[in-house]
Amino acid sequence: MDKRIVVTRTVPEAAVAVLREAGSVHVCTQDGPLSPAELREAVRGAHAVVTMLHDRVDAELVEAAGPQLEVVANVAVGYDNVDVPAVTERGVVVTNTPGVLVDATADLTLGLLLMVTRRLAEGERLLRAREPWTFHLGFMLGSGLQGKTLGIVGLGGIGQAVARRARAFGMDVVYTGRRQAPAEVEAELGARRLPLEELLRTADVVSLHCPLTEQTRHLIDRDALAAMKPTAYLVNTSRGPVVDEKALAEALREGRIAGAALDVFEREPEVEPALLDLDNVVVVPHLGSATVETRTAMAELAARNVAAVLAGEEPITPVR
Ligand code: DGY
Repeated sequence: MDKRIVVTRTVPEAAVAVLREAGSVHVCTQDGPLSPAELREAVRGAHAVVTMLHDRVDAELVEAAGPQLEVVANVAVGYDNVDVPAVTERGVVVTNTPGVLVDATADLTLGLLLMVTRRLAEGERLLRAREPWTFHLGFMLGSGLQGKTLGIVGLGGIGQAVARRARAFGMDVVYTGRRQAPAEVEAELGARRLPLEELLRTADVVSLHCPLTEQTRHLIDRDALAAMKPTAYLVNTSRGPVVDEKALAEALREGRIAGAALDVFEREPEVEPALLDLDNVVVVPHLGSATVETRTAMAELAARNVAAVLAGEEPITPVR
């Protein structure tokens, strides 16, 4: 009997082709995310489930799927939506998609950084509102990057790729993280590790690249924002809840930091309304990995993980 593979939302055809080699594939084609009840219903009898970052994967979901479930393949590098201990202790393998989205996410981070420091979204809004304007030397001045300091929170693959790009813009790099980066990485990036508090006091741009865990939830809270320079910017392409959005809106409104650019939100897909009223905020809808090439690579990697586990082989990118 074919193994049943459930995909909770549409994925690129290339990934479906890989999955078809491994079993009978059911793709949920509804417009939005499935509700928890719909998700439990959809996975019933599945041997493999391909999940998205908005699907909550926990003990209840695994129980709903049944004892035949072998693998949950999350199409994201982040897996804060998965209760990994609860799933793995039931003998189910969890996989994610590291590596393949590094460049796309780093590119988007630099895009956001430029948007907020050079007021690009603000300028675009001005023209679209058909407001009158003329060139003059004091018009819409932003902040240059050359010689400024980028503070990276989490120097993993994406953090390093951002640092490399920032160096090309003439920025100095400092970072904070649980572990010291290898000496050759620090040397290549000219990067110095600092405690978070010192990084916040030093950086002209703080860019977040840490996973969401209980330790990093609201890492950037009122106190952290108060430690930043009034001329500094915050960029978040990691996970929304790493930042206390209400505290951020307050800091921005009161001019305690210069601006923020956000790809991710605390209560995604909702965006804190107070942020939307502020000109010094750039918001985009979780686009970090949103290129055709990257999303295809992510879905294909998830599919290859499923195929490996269902064939009794080691997964390619397991979450331990
Ligand atoms: C991930 O993979 O975790 C990203 O947030 C998706 O872009």
